[in-house]
Amino acid sequence: MGLSSLCLAFLSIFILSKFVLSHLVVADILQSFTPPCHDDEISALLQFKQSFVINMSASDYEGAYPKISSWKSNSNCCSWDGVDCDEETRHVIGLDLSSSCLYGSMNSNSTLFRLVHLESLNLADNHFDSQIPPTIRNFPKLRYLNLSYSAFSGQVPREVSQLTKLLSLDLSHNGDMFLNEKLLRSLAQNLTGLETLDLSFINISSTVPNTLSNLSHLTSLVLNSCGLFGKLPFSLGNLRHLIFLVLSDNQFNGQIPSSFANLTQLTYLSLGENHINGTIPCFLGNLAQLAALRLYSNQLSGPILSSLGNLGKLTVLDLNFNKFQREIPESLFNVASLERLLLAYNNLSGTVEFLKFLKLPNLIWLDLSGNNLDVITETRTMNASNIPRLMYLGLGSCNIREFPNFLRYQDTLRYLNLSWNGMHGQVPKWMWNISRESLDYLDISHNLLSGFDQPPVVLPWVELDGLDLSFNRLSGPLLVPSSQYMELYHISNNKLTGEISPLICNASFLLSLDVSNNNLSGMLPRCLENSSKLIVLSAGNNYFHGTLPHQGTNGSRLRMIDVSRNKLQGKLPRSLANCLKLESLVLSSNKFDDVFPVWLGALSELKVLAMRNSGFHGAIPRHQSNHDGFPNLRILDLSQNNFTGQFAFEFIISGESMRGIHLEGSEYMTTLGIDIYENSHDWYLEASYKHDQSMTLMNKGVERYFPQVREDFMIIDLSSNRFEGKIPEFIGNLKGLRSLNVSSNILSGRIPPSLGNLTNLEALDLSHNNFSGEIPPSLLQLSFLQQFSVSHNNLTGRIPVGNQFSTFEVTSYEGNLGLCGVPLPKKCSRSEEGPELPPSTAEEEDGVELDWKFAAAGLVSGLVVGVVLADFVTTRFSERFIEIVAFLIRLMRMPRS
Ligand SMILES: *[C@@H]1O[C@H](CO)[C@@H](O)[C@H](O)[C@H]1NC(C)=O
Ligand SMILES: *[C@@H]1O[C@H](CO)[C@@H](O)[C@H](O)[C@H]1NC(C)=O
Ligand SMILES: *[C@@H]1O[C@H](CO)[C@@H](O)[C@H](O)[C@H]1NC(C)=O
Ligand SMILES: *[C@@H]1O[C@H](CO)[C@@H](O)[C@H](O)[C@H]1NC(C)=O
Ligand SMILES: *[C@@H]1O[C@H](CO)[C@@H](O)[C@H](O)[C@H]1NC(C)=O
Ligand SMILES: *[C@@H]1O[C@H](CO)[C@@H](O)[C@H](O)[C@H]1NC(C)=O
Ligand SMILES: *[C@@H]1O[C@H](CO)[C@@H](O)[C@H](O)[C@H]1NC(C)=O
Ligand SMILES: *[C@@H]1O[C@H](CO)[C@@H](O)[C@H](O)[C@H]1NC(C)=O
Ligand SMILES: *[C@@H]1O[C@H](CO)[C@@H](O)[C@H](O)[C@H]1NC(C)=O
Repeated sequence: MGLSSLCLAFLSIFILSKFVLSHLVVADILQSFTPPCHDDEISALLQFKQSFVINMSASDYEGAYPKISSWKSNSNCCSWDGVDCDEETRHVIGLDLSSSCLYGSMNSNSTLFRLVHLESLNLADNHFDSQIPPTIRNFPKLRYLNLSYSAFSGQVPREVSQLTKLLSLDLSHNGDMFLNEKLLRSLAQNLTGLETLDLSFINISSTVPNTLSNLSHLTSLVLNSCGLFGKLPFSLGNLRHLIFLVLSDNQFNGQIPSSFANLTQLTYLSLGENHINGTIPCFLGNLAQLAALRLYSNQLSGPILSSLGNLGKLTVLDLNFNKFQREIPESLFNVASLERLLLAYNNLSGTVEFLKFLKLPNLIWLDLSGNNLDVITETRTMNASNIPRLMYLGLGSCNIREFPNFLRYQDTLRYLNLSWNGMHGQVPKWMWNISRESLDYLDISHNLLSGFDQPPVVLPWVELDGLDLSFNRLSGPLLVPSSQYMELYHISNNKLTGEISPLICNASFLLSLDVSNNNLSGMLPRCLENSSKLIVLSAGNNYFHGTLPHQGTNGSRLRMIDVSRNKLQGKLPRSLANCLKLESLVLSSNKFDDVFPVWLGALSELKVLAMRNSGFHGAIPRHQSNHDGFPNLRILDLSQNNFTGQFAFEFIISGESMRGIHLEGSEYMTTLGIDIYENSHDWYLEASYKHDQSMTLMNKGVERYFPQVREDFMIIDLSSNRFEGKIPEFIGNLKGLRSLNVSSNILSGRIPPSLGNLTNLEALDLSHNNFSGEIPPSLLQLSFLQQFSVSHNNLTGRIPVGNQFSTFEVTSYEGNLGLCGVPLPKKCSRSEEGPELPPSTAEEEDGVELDWKFAAAGLVSGLVVGVVLADFVTTRFSERFIEIVAFLIRLMRMPRS
């Protein structure tokens, strides 16, 4: 570069900078000329700023930042971030502090309420942790109010209904807020200009007042999860401007009203998760603007309305979890705009060619699982460029016999469900290549698959977080997940061999590990010791040896451990006591060498403790503390061990559950659901796990997912040990008891008459002990008793007569030299006459009634008792639990967007 050109360059830089500078000066001058804002409003804003701390975790939005940080005194507040002033009056008319990381509480005295000229106020996505102050009425000019996602709580103040200029009101998604019906009426009466109303997740718990139809300017109405019930609203039909209508997750019932026919502008309609029944009314097919129609999780029936195929703008059709019948209408295959088609868990039937779905060019989500469909998939090679790339594909129980060929061309799948299909043979080797980068859930459980064609050592899907291979006939070594995101790894009920790779330890997000019912060996992976996420560990019925791994720290989330039917040895790790959430511990059929883990008594959630035939021994010490141990225990199985001494009835089984104080149903579904919800970031799970009613609708093989865990079944089995001493009278307090088995011990003394108080008792086995005295006549009160044995004791006197006792055989009594009366051959002498039977039950006619009761009870619960006494504790219970976890995790992946 020559000198002159260098000079030129300098010159131009000089001129340029001069130019820039002068402009800055001008801008400054201009700034100082803009009229300032009002002093009182500056001070109100600054004091408002002072009343909060900045806390980045107070806002969820990624782009959140503290707008108020830039607010400085001695500057024009109209230029502050988030502040908007009227051009002429210079009054603050708009305040947008959404996602501003504000943390602190707000009361009526807040200086915010001095900004009486506000027309627009947005405080969404902060953390105020207080009620909405009634001084909200100080903003009579307010047109836009958004207080959503801001941890407001308590009652919505009625003063909101004085904001009669409001066009948009959003109070949604605040933790614990409620709004009474009266206020809802007032809002409907006063806020007649409203165009947008969102009260989602506010507890309203009422019917929707008809006056809501006054809000005739509404374009968007969102009342999701408000506890609303009764008929669907708007039988007045005024809301003809509605574009966006969400009434999901309430308890609305009845049919979709004909007034909806007038909502011709609707583009988004969600009525999901209610109790709506009847058919899809014809006029829905005329709502030509509809882009999304979500009717999932209701009780709708009949055929899927064929005219839905006329909705040329439809992108989402979600009819999952209903009772729809017949074929999928052909017309749906004409809706080229469809992106998500969700028809799972209905009663649809007929044969459908999968090719037809592949002709929908925009399709990305398709769920046909859980119907009675016969889906014919392509077996020939096809032109890969022509088929849509799916993200989510549910083909569970679709009667597919082979891995569908079109899957070869799917490289964007995230969810693939091919369970319950009767697929046999080997998993083809091309499966290892599909959607390697994207697949996060693969379910090929409940088929007849026998193995893998050229299996990779490590599973190829790097994003995989759920794998379900259970209930097949797979043999050979385990497939090891490579993904560190693994949440669910279920391979149970196969013939898999080998050891669990330590690579499983990479999966630090693991929630549920089920490897039960295989031929696995080696030790249980030690890394589980560090897993803070694991909820279910199920490893029963394998050949695992070594000790039970240490479990967690205080933060352990484990709720269920089943390691039964293995060869585990040694002592139980004391760290089990850290599993404060443990509900079920199943150790049966192992070779431990330990005494009774009295220290587990502190686990307040523990409901099931099963350690049948697992090498425990010695006397059970009484607990040192005064507290009751095992407060929630419902099922206790100590049978076939070498326990000695007295059994500490009062300490171990006197909890509230056993006493039947809380005989209500299962809490598993809820607690587990919430827990997984906390664990995942899938917001839609919260809604999904409440699917109770829809779950019971499912049929055809899928009912396995939601058997009720019978928590009102309390069972004690102490049989085949060397317990001695007496059964205390207080056992009569354990009202919840269904089955008591203390057979084959060396118990002595009288049979406590208080057993007659256990009116739920269905099985009582006292055989092979040293009980003496008479069979207490109070046992005649046990009208549900179906199994009874006192054989091989030292009992005397007359066998009680009548009621259930007329059904028991000789074997129930044999081996007691002193017993007499029916059904034993030995007749009673005069001196052996027992006391009179209790008058209420001794009468003959009552006997008839009780027999009837017995028959009914037998029908209802006989089967269950049979199962319980066989292997409920060790097998069924665990499987059910795991099925429920699996179901919940599956639900987490159901489309909800
Ligand atoms: C910040 O907010 C979180 C939750 O929003 C809270 O737990 C934490 O205590 C807050 N921190 C401070 C310093 O206030
Ligand atoms: C409001 O301020 C007044 C006076 O400063 C005080 O007495 C009152 O307790 C405050 N009210 C609330 C709700 O904080
Ligand atoms: C309220 O604010 C939230 C969070 O910024 C936003 O998602 C929502 O759309 C707003 N509501 C209305 C009605 O504008
Ligand atoms: C309706 O608004 C008017 C005017 O602000 C007010 O006086 C009245 O109390 C409001 N009605 C209700 C029920 O809040
Ligand atoms: C639709 O609106 C019109 C006019 O308001 C009304 O007469 C009619 O009854 C409404 N239709 C239904 C089905 O509600
Ligand atoms: C719909 O549900 C209501 C109660 O919510 C019931 O009275 C009615 O019989 C049901 N109708 C149908 C068709 O199932
Ligand atoms: C009980 O202990 C004895 C020896 O004390 C042993 O022979 C027997 O096998 C043990 N029984 C069980 C079930 O562990
Ligand atoms: C329990 O049984 C005993 C003995 O049969 C009896 O005295 C007592 O009143 C019964 N208690 C209750 C609450 O029924
Ligand atoms: C059987 O009971 C009687 C008392 O009823 C007692 O005298 C006798 O010793 C007992 N026999 C055995 C073997 O325990």
